[in-house]
Amino acid sequence: MKKVIVLALIVVFAFATVAMAGYDDKCAKCHNGKTSPDKAKMLEKFKTADDFVKAAQASKSPMMKSFLDKGDELKAAAGEIGLK
Ligand code: HEC
Repeated sequence: MKKVIVLALIVVFAFATVAMAGYDDKCAKCHNGKTSPDKAKMLEKFKTADDFVKAAQASKSPMMKSFLDKGDELKAAAGEIGLK
């Protein structure tokens, strides 16, 4: 019984950590094709992770303001949606 609980906790924790770090959690709520371009649109527009990060940091949108100094996060998100 104890083993099951420990295992369940590990699984929950692992999922929570992944979700916290990711594009789906941090970016997709806005980048949904309504508020701002969705994943498919951005993949069409940007060919490299560098382009993507630069565009994100060049954004004039106040909604992107909290990400402007977070190059690492932007880069991670770029990697996650398939840019290199
Ligand atoms: C609070 C809402 C919000 C969140 C959260 C958000 N964005 Fe944005 N983002 C925007 C808006 C609004 C724009 C401007 C869209 C436009 O110009 O059409 C934008 C623009 C961008 C652009 C430039 C798009 C272009 O076509 O020039 C990139 C790249 C981008 N965001 C990446 C990200 C990444 C990566 C994350 C997660 C780390 C993220 N955004 C989180 C709202 C958000």
